[in-house]
Amino acid sequence: MGESGGPAGIPGTAQEAQGAQGANFGAYQSEIYLNGLGGQLPPFTTDLTALEASARERLEDGPFWYVAGAAGSGATDRANREAFDRRRIVPRMLRDATVRDLRTTVLGTEMPAPVLLAPIGVQSIVHPDGELATARAASALGVPMILSTASSHTVEEVARASGDGPRWYQLYWPNEDDVCVSILRRAGAAGFTTLVVTLDTWTLAWRPHDLDLSYLPFIRGVGTAIPFSDPAFRAGLDKSPEEDLISAVLRWVPMFTGTDRSWDRLPFLRDHWDGPIVLKGVQHPDDARRAADAGMDGIVVSNHGGRQVDGAVASLDMLPEIAEAVGDRIEVLFDSGVRTGADVVKALALGARAVLVGRPFAYGLAHGGEEGVRHVLRSLLADLDLTLGLSGHRTPSELSPEALRHA
Ligand SMILES: Cc1cc2nc3c(=O)[nH]c(=O)nc-3n(C[C@H](O)[C@H](O)[C@H](O)COP(=O)(O)O)c2cc1C
Repeated sequence: MGESGGPAGIPGTAQEAQGAQGANFGAYQSEIYLNGLGGQLPPFTTDLTALEASARERLEDGPFWYVAGAAGSGATDRANREAFDRRRIVPRMLRDATVRDLRTTVLGTEMPAPVLLAPIGVQSIVHPDGELATARAASALGVPMILSTASSHTVEEVARASGDGPRWYQLYWPNEDDVCVSILRRAGAAGFTTLVVTLDTWTLAWRPHDLDLSYLPFIRGVGTAIPFSDPAFRAGLDKSPEEDLISAVLRWVPMFTGTDRSWDRLPFLRDHWDGPIVLKGVQHPDDARRAADAGMDGIVVSNHGGRQVDGAVASLDMLPEIAEAVGDRIEVLFDSGVRTGADVVKALALGARAVLVGRPFAYGLAHGGEEGVRHVLRSLLADLDLTLGLSGHRTPSELSPEALRHA
């Protein structure tokens, strides 16, 4: 018998039908093979580790390096991948993992698998539909998207594209309180349920690829749709952004970069957000404890994909300590370096409740807009489903550090 596993590997429906056990994401594999009988291949590679190289052929230098680039020497970005490579899954056999259920609920948001789309700003630099395409693709699969403050489309436009899809909002914390409150109010009204506050990008790191090309989307008025459509922001301008782009840019960029906040300001956000709050960018167990002590609902263990502190520790290397410190008090999410189903399995085994996928879906967007994001997500979820089952697990909650060994 071949690798398809016989009849059980080729289910009756080619789509991920939603059954009592949740979606059968692994069925994307059989759909691809069956389509191949008719001469149809996947839209682009199913190897998500190869997407960066093929995106290089499709994107101009500026947008490509804005996505692929990292801080400084790129050491942190590489460390993120190396940390995954140092850990290996130990498969277990004869455990009846034929039927899996990947569903989970995080902070009241039901999701078909423990995967969310990371907040990625300025998505229109890789595809004109930008965040709208991402929202449609995520919503079709029921995967939550996290919308960046640096979106190329407004919160209201993205909410419409998302329809009844689950959505969270990521805040770059403006240093003018009335603008912050106005943006939060709009996000809440547009159906974004959880607030993700990014802590690690209060100013931009030294990013040589972008510097060498002098490429920063924001100062060209890209990724500014949310503030530029905001009444409180516009009230502080002499002329509208449509009339005087440069003045609007010069008001916005310093408002969301250049000002570090401190722990004692968190109650302000609590006062103005009616839902769970997650702090993104936590890398130390003490900061995680502090987040829990401050009454936050969750954290994202993240180093921003190596884009901020060059030479920083791999995000995955800090995950076990952090999960140990606060995993029983708040939700611990993870990102930075997730590329494959096996990576998701490893992060979950080390204590993450769910992971955020970053660059791979941005490359999917570059390859084919909504369809491209959908293909990347379906590929990742199929790979996750199959890897989980083949390693002897039926649900993400069965994973523990015991499932892994150091290489
Ligand atoms: C092009 C790009 C733009 C990003 N924009 C944001 C953003 O606006 N807000 C944010 O919190 N994180 C942002 N991030 C970081 C991601 O949310 C996530 O932490 C990171 O992509 C994870 O690393 P990975 O892509 O290597 O998996 C961005 C990342 C990239 C690659």
